[in-house]
Amino acid sequence: MIFTKKNSLNGEITVPGDKSISHRSIMLGSLASGITEVHGFLQGADCLSSISCFQKMGVAIENDTETNIVRIHGLGLHNLKAPTEILDVGNSGTTTRLMSGILAAQNFTSTVTGDASIQKRPMKRIMTPLSQMGADITSINGNECAPLHIQGKPLHGIHYQSPVASAQVKSAILLAGLYADGETSVTEPYVSRNHTELMFESFGVNIQCEGTTATVQPAAHLEAQKIIVPGDISSAAYFIVAGLITPNSCITIKNVGINSTRDGILDVCKAMGADITLSNVNDTIGEPTADITVRTSSLRGTVIEGAIIPKLIDELPIIAILACFANGTTIIKDAQELKVKESNRIDVMVQNLSAMGADIEATDDGMIIRGGKPLHGAIIDSKLDHRIAMSFAIAGMNAEGDTEILGAECVNISYPNFYQDLEALN
Ligand code: S3P
Repeated sequence: MIFTKKNSLNGEITVPGDKSISHRSIMLGSLASGITEVHGFLQGADCLSSISCFQKMGVAIENDTETNIVRIHGLGLHNLKAPTEILDVGNSGTTTRLMSGILAAQNFTSTVTGDASIQKRPMKRIMTPLSQMGADITSINGNECAPLHIQGKPLHGIHYQSPVASAQVKSAILLAGLYADGETSVTEPYVSRNHTELMFESFGVNIQCEGTTATVQPAAHLEAQKIIVPGDISSAAYFIVAGLITPNSCITIKNVGINSTRDGILDVCKAMGADITLSNVNDTIGEPTADITVRTSSLRGTVIEGAIIPKLIDELPIIAILACFANGTTIIKDAQELKVKESNRIDVMVQNLSAMGADIEATDDGMIIRGGKPLHGAIIDSKLDHRIAMSFAIAGMNAEGDTEILGAECVNISYPNFYQDLEALN
């Protein structure tokens, strides 16, 4: 795909459903009794991997791709079937880690693996706490990565102090905790996204959250629900930044999830002086939503560190692009987790933005970006990381000359119609 400079980007768009919530709806819907109906499901490859894994465990799941409504015929907590094939998670870390928490407690054995990226991502972070709960989970190649072999076992409740603020780790433990013989809690260094906790509550699970600790009681029964998935703020982020850095622009993104554990990008935009407003705020359902309007803005650098990092972890690649268009220096710290995402996002952002002429340097736990240097086109290797490809599409629309993105089709992981939606702006 080739991108060239735009003189304006205007319009109204609706981004697809939240990826984290879509995954969780399949998992909890499968474990509930009755039919869970999910509206606004994300038809991205990652969430389709979650569907196919649970189908392989006997769950009937109807996916109407026209309406984005998914109906899950839940089997109840204890009726998943032993899969007869490997559970293939594709590129999805969320499927791998959350599903492992469920598999650890089943009365069967399973094998979980995925693509080349998944087979490099750290799984020790879930293997350690799940093993403490009594799980039998091993890395088949002995490298603490997938493929994982999971022999279901009776589990014990634990109180786990997680070294990393990770919703995937927290959720794997909480899902295993549904099956434990007593209370299970997870304490994190900072609060990570709380979609599992909110969805547990709506399915009738006894879950308490206090500070950075979430505590779940063993469950006897989950009741099927209707779930309305809001637009994904992580997908909206590309249009937020596009509207702020492209001249003569005004973009409204409708119905975006603004859960306070996910909205760090809004705070960063405000700190940088962005013209960004929220309207139609709807706080009546568990996951609050709003329409977000952005206009071309004069921006200043900022420091992004500490507790806000988990609230914008997936947005840091596009925030790095934003920082190139701000006056002054932006420092991103405490973001070591970027190194173990779908690609090493510190290295990949620094290499590609340097190729475009940005003044950017990698640090141990983030990046330093000195904004204001004009970008020029370059050949961008996405490393098949969806968030890298989308970030550089926006950069390319604000650079002199041609920007060619290699592996651009990887956006299908979280946003299959990304390029069409971008094209529709004028
Ligand atoms: C996710 C949590 C985050 C995020 C990922 C989705 C989730 O990962 O990067 O895209 O749905 O729980 P970590 O919790 O491992 O940081």
